Amino acid sequence: MKIGRNDPCWCGSGKKYKACHAEFDEKLAQMKAKKIIVPSHKLIKTRQQLEGIRKAGKLNTEILDMVAAHIREGMSTDEINTLVHEYTIAHGGIPAPLNYCGFPKSVCTSVNDVICHGIPDENEILKNGDIINVDVTTILDGYYADASRMFCIGEVSENAKKLVDVTKESLDLAFKEVRPWGFLGDIGEVISKHIYAHGYTVLHDIGGHGVGNDFHEDPYVCHIGRRGTGMLLVPGMVFTIEPMVNEGKEDFYQDADNGWTIYTEDGSLSAQWEYTVAVTEDGAEIITH
Ligand code: MF3
Ligand code: CO
Ligand code: CO
Repeated sequence: MKIGRNDPCWCGSGKKYKACHAEFDEKLAQMKAKKIIVPSHKLIKTRQQLEGIRKAGKLNTEILDMVAAHIREGMSTDEINTLVHEYTIAHGGIPAPLNYCGFPKSVCTSVNDVICHGIPDENEILKNGDIINVDVTTILDGYYADASRMFCIGEVSENAKKLVDVTKESLDLAFKEVRPWGFLGDIGEVISKHIYAHGYTVLHDIGGHGVGNDFHEDPYVCHIGRRGTGMLLVPGMVFTIEPMVNEGKEDFYQDADNGWTIYTEDGSLSAQWEYTVAVTEDGAEIITH
């Protein structure tokens, strides 16, 4: 059904459509006619949803800070799981990974050649020289925020440190590309260029995603791309950027026993950093800072 110019806007602002998103919709319709991929209204968060997602992001960041304060050599990845689980519950949240599509734990812990979706295990003990990604997703009052960081355990090799740092740089470079009327391809281009310039590879088939009202929403955020291509970015979109970067080849395989853990095919190290970001009226915001 077509919305009237004097009807309340679909975005939930409470303003009349003509004074709110009418011009915006007109602009998008013109872009769509030129074969530009435009986001549906469903991908644009209301002010109220954004507030909820920001609160989830704040708790998610506190959880990662708490992990940063406790993570150390000799600890098992299951101890990280316990810390995340208990802190989340104690602060009124729900750890989103737990039971998500059957995932058995409350956080993903991906060590060395594990690219992502590592399952915490009491028999997996962190040792000097390991690199680990801890990926935390928190539900608070029904809203989701998703972020991950790398941690270096004790003294790590120079090449491991470089991989971790370059991956973080690629995420920060990508964030600078997030703006209204930009494109998802802008993100993919800067990440892949930065990663390839260092001789690393970035996964094409696993990437970021819309997030906020659910764990994984549209769009798919590919970390390989070309500027000016892919979906148009508009204010109110919320998604993750989470490049997975391998020291060696891009190829990966999934653990046949648990059906989750993704490893590098060649056994090389892998690193990942993740933010949840929002497109604002005049730029962008990191929701998980
Ligand atoms: N947090 C991951 C992401 O960034 C998803 C993990 S799914 C899980 O998208 F089930 F493994 F938790
Ligand atoms: Co994510
Ligand atoms: Co995540």
